[in-house]
Amino acid sequence: MRLLVTPGRRISGRVAVPGDKSISHRWLLLGATADGEVRIEGLPPSLDVVSTAECLARLAPTARPALETWASRSAVTDERHGSTWNDEPSTLDVQRLELHGEGRGALEPYPDPLGCGNSGTTMRLLCGVVAASSFLTVLVGDASLSARPMERVARPLRLMGANVQTADGHPPITIRGAPLRGVEVEPSVPSAQVKGAILLAGAAAEGATTVSETVGTRDHTERALEALGAPLTTAGGRITIDGPFQHGGFTGVVPGDLSSAAFLIAAAAITGGELTLPWVGVNPSRLHVLEVLRRMGVIVEIRVEGEEVGEPVGTIRAGAVDGFRAVEVAPEELPLVIDEVPALVALAVHAPGRSRFAGAGELRVKESDRLSTLVDGVRSLGGEATVEGEDLLVRGGRLPGGSASSAGDHRIGIALAVASLAATGPSMIDGMEAAAVSFPGFVRSLIELGADVESRT
Ligand code: S3P
Repeated sequence: MRLLVTPGRRISGRVAVPGDKSISHRWLLLGATADGEVRIEGLPPSLDVVSTAECLARLAPTARPALETWASRSAVTDERHGSTWNDEPSTLDVQRLELHGEGRGALEPYPDPLGCGNSGTTMRLLCGVVAASSFLTVLVGDASLSARPMERVARPLRLMGANVQTADGHPPITIRGAPLRGVEVEPSVPSAQVKGAILLAGAAAEGATTVSETVGTRDHTERALEALGAPLTTAGGRITIDGPFQHGGFTGVVPGDLSSAAFLIAAAAITGGELTLPWVGVNPSRLHVLEVLRRMGVIVEIRVEGEEVGEPVGTIRAGAVDGFRAVEVAPEELPLVIDEVPALVALAVHAPGRSRFAGAGELRVKESDRLSTLVDGVRSLGGEATVEGEDLLVRGGRLPGGSASSAGDHRIGIALAVASLAATGPSMIDGMEAAAVSFPGFVRSLIELGADVESRT
């Protein structure tokens, strides 16, 4: 699907962003392995989340009917575009999941490889869940996921006692589960996916499992486990879970995804609009993007209104700009805004001056090589961007607009569409169906907020 973007409109108003992808993966994994009744609302029909639900449907017999129904309603195959995507506003019915779990001990083997689609989080977190099983699991992904590094998660799980094989460091991953023992590990790269996998395995292991982080990453796994009563402690960058621990059922409403909200905030800021975003996840480990936005002159306010399964939720008001300027993001900040660099680049192409995202090498192993795809995308729209070593540099100013491609990466497509909203001429963004991986309804939300955008086959 291609998106024609005609600039000149303000992006303003009130809109709900889809549920948080990171939280949804974890609640689904914890839901299917719970011992009890689980009710999750606000689940986004994001294709990555659908991948997690589909894998779990194959492993968790009592949760299967609910997960299968949810997944089949969420992954809409669009006849016109011949692809699976979703740009419909999801109904409350689609967003709700109720299942009965019988604990992680009730998981059963699946004879074929489990497809994780485009989702690195699905694959890495699932490794942690099946590591303690009594059977063999094979995990595969699409072309993009098949090129992503997996030893970072395989290594610690081997230390815990699981038999894990990767194909030269990449998927497919073959895991023969085993009784696990608690270990102390420092992941080779700061990664919430790796930390999450180790903690999920740690919940099933005998004894204490500790993950040490030199740089803090998103803490959704810890928060959910703690809210479910796990003996988990966090101090000085060390997170310890005392296993074995089996959680019970739970109820929660998934907060909106701050990473998706960041794109809309950028859109409002560059078009002179203002936004109200209700029910967004405002977990402190995700908020650094707002700090960077403030440094660029964007005015952002948060009102915390509640908590769901340990996750703070609130309303964000943003968009107005006071002294719009370029930004320097330091290497130690990068893990804190790892998913929001594309949104910040969409802003930086319009911000006077030169922006630098330093030490951004980890972006090379995301859904695409985001250092390359961002530079290519910005240049295709007539902007200036380059990579120096591991630094991404963007010179802000006049953006003429042009024809660009998502390169099959959801956040790249969304970033280029957003940047185009304030270009001086129209743009065409190819491969926009990728947006449904994390932001189903993205195009519809833009239209609701006043954008002049049109889907083309
Ligand atoms: C995620 C963690 C991040 C992020 C990804 C989601 C998670 O990956 O890029 O989109 O849900 O744990 P890493 O922590 O591996 O960098």
